[in-house]
Amino acid sequence: MKRNAGIVGLGCYVPEKILTNLELESIVETTDEWIRTRTGILERRIAAKGQSSSDLASQAAREALKNAGLGASDLDLIIVATISGDMLFPSTACLVQTKIGATCPAFDLAAACSGFPYALAMAGGLVLAGQYKKILIIGSEVLSGFIDWQDRSTCVLFGDGAGAAVVSDVGPDKGILSTYLAADGRYADLLKIPAGGSAMPPSLESVQQKLHTLKMNGSEVFKLAVRNMADAVLKAIALAGISLEKIDLLIPHQANLRIIQAVAERTHVPLSKVFINLDKYGNMSSASTIVALYEAVKSGRIQPGNHIAMVAFGSGLTWASTVMKW
Ligand code: UT7
Repeated sequence: MKRNAGIVGLGCYVPEKILTNLELESIVETTDEWIRTRTGILERRIAAKGQSSSDLASQAAREALKNAGLGASDLDLIIVATISGDMLFPSTACLVQTKIGATCPAFDLAAACSGFPYALAMAGGLVLAGQYKKILIIGSEVLSGFIDWQDRSTCVLFGDGAGAAVVSDVGPDKGILSTYLAADGRYADLLKIPAGGSAMPPSLESVQQKLHTLKMNGSEVFKLAVRNMADAVLKAIALAGISLEKIDLLIPHQANLRIIQAVAERTHVPLSKVFINLDKYGNMSSASTIVALYEAVKSGRIQPGNHIAMVAFGSGLTWASTVMKW
């Protein structure tokens, strides 16, 4: 009998502190009106001092385990998708493993904003291969520590948060129906943190020039995001062998409302079938799609038997999509 891998428990954690557009007006030369109309973002969460990616990830993980009816000792593998890990090494996944009391193998995955669907594809494949039975996947970011708070073209966009899911065998008639992963390193310069790695180790100069903070060519990323996310949605639907009309909810990466609207228009998915929560959180990179999925399930927007398409896009460039039957 055909088996599928799927999600059996979800968790989410966002920091308490809310940073509104109005507050940003006093930090940088911007306006609530510009941010709202150009991005759709109204506020974002900011981690407390000392709160790291593994802290957020562990909170989300505990809830996902609880909702899956599992304990940390039941886990066979932990994958953390992050670009704002606690340290260059060890991996944030190893820190999460200890914080939640697990003992299984653990590693990080770097696919930026596409991190969650990338991790879901890895976990689904490993479950189907029979290698691991219960895999915890997490998207967790504390990007606020890597933002130039004087650069209005980026600092208004991002927020902190984490989401987690437990992936395991879910039997025949539900679960992950397709995954599609893509990358194009020719565009690596469009969105990056230049310093801090081996190409440009941290130095007094790199810090003075703020090269350890996020740099983005927003308008180029925008165009490529629309084109590739729309294409990825259609590819995942075709790979799942279902028609577009079957999709009950599209969960896109939450970077910019105008990108989401353009993707919906290109794919002919009505906006009423698109989940949007970026107004509350901004762009949480790898955490965006999983937190959106969590909220869609929690609010009842996703019901058993529904077909869900998820799509993400980010630095790399990377993009990825999946279709699941809930
Ligand atoms: O998660 C990974 C994927 N990332 C994304 O998908 C982000 C993709 N890019 C975007 O969402 C958009 O390109 C942005 C929101 C970043 C920028 O929107 P835009 O409509 O492309 O604006 P722009 O960069 O073309 O800038 C238009 C104007 C500029 O002023 P001038 O040169 O026309 O006088 C900017 O300086 O808006 C100005 N501007 C701002 N003004 C007020 C840029 N940021 C701000 C700001 N407040 N925060």
